[in-house]
Amino acid sequence: MADFDAVAQRYQSFLQLPVCRDVETYSFEKLAGDCRGLSILDLACGEGYYSRFFRQHGAARVIGVDISAEMIRLAAAQEHSDPLGIDYRVGDACDVKLKERFDIVSGAWLLQNARDSEGLRAMCMTIAQHLKPEDVFIGLNINPTFSGDGMALAKYGHTFRPNDAKEGDALYSRFYPPAAEPFEMLTYQKSLASYAWAFEQAGLTSPEWVPVSVRPERLAQDGADFWAYFLQHPPITGLRSRAMS
Ligand SMILES: C[S@@+](CC[C@H](N)C(=O)[O-])C[C@H]1O[C@@H](n2cnc3c(N)ncnc32)[C@H](O)[C@@H]1O
Repeated sequence: MADFDAVAQRYQSFLQLPVCRDVETYSFEKLAGDCRGLSILDLACGEGYYSRFFRQHGAARVIGVDISAEMIRLAAAQEHSDPLGIDYRVGDACDVKLKERFDIVSGAWLLQNARDSEGLRAMCMTIAQHLKPEDVFIGLNINPTFSGDGMALAKYGHTFRPNDAKEGDALYSRFYPPAAEPFEMLTYQKSLASYAWAFEQAGLTSPEWVPVSVRPERLAQDGADFWAYFLQHPPITGLRSRAMS
C-alpha cells in the first residue's frame, strides 16, 4: 500500500495543474452529469476534491471515505473552514458497510489501488452494495491499456513506470506539483479481463471505458500539438458501470 498519508499535502498542490483541472475534472464532470439533488458516496475521496465538487454542483448528500487518515484530516479541515455539509470518514473501500444506498458511487483513482483481481472484486462489492438497482458507478483510473511511454508524459505533470506492466505488477505514478517536491504513488496493473470479472462478480455491468478529453479552452490556449501525445496515448481513463437489477 502506498503511503498516501505522507504525500497528502503535495497531492493537494498537484490538483492545481491543468492535467487535473482541465482534463480529469473536465472529463469526470461530464461522466457525473447533472448531480443536483442526488446522494453520492465518494470512495477514495482523498482530501475531498470531488466530494466538494459534487456538493458545489448541487448533490444533496455526500459521504467521502478514504483509507488515509491524513487525507481525511485535510478534507475535514476544509469542511471546517468552508462548510458544505460533507460527511468524511476514514475507511477501506474493500470493507465499507454503510446502512444506505446512493444514487451515485464515485471512485476517482480508487480501483487502481487494488493489488489484484480479488482486491478489485472486494472494492466492486462495496460499490454494488451501496448502489440502488440501475444506479451508476463512475470512476477515473490509470488506463489499463496504456500504450505509450510513461516517461514522455512529464510535460503534463505526471509520469508512469514501467511501460510494460503485467497483471499484478507495481505501477509507479510520479507527480510534479507546482512549487513542491515531486512524489510517487504506488498502484497495481490489472487487465481489462480482471476488471470485467470483478465487476461481474459483484453484480455490476462490465465497465464502460470512457476516454478523457481536454477542456476546449485549455486546448485552444495550449494548442493541439501540446496535448497530442496525451490524447494519442491516454494514460488515464474514465469508467462507468451500473448496478444490475
Ligand atoms: C490519487 S488519490 C485521489 C483522491 C481523490 N479521489 C481525488 O481525485 O482527488 C487516491 C486516493 O485513494 C485512497 N485509497 C487507496 N486505497 C484505498 C482503499 N483501499 N480504500 C479507500 N481509499 C483508498 C488514497 O488514500 C488516496 O487518497
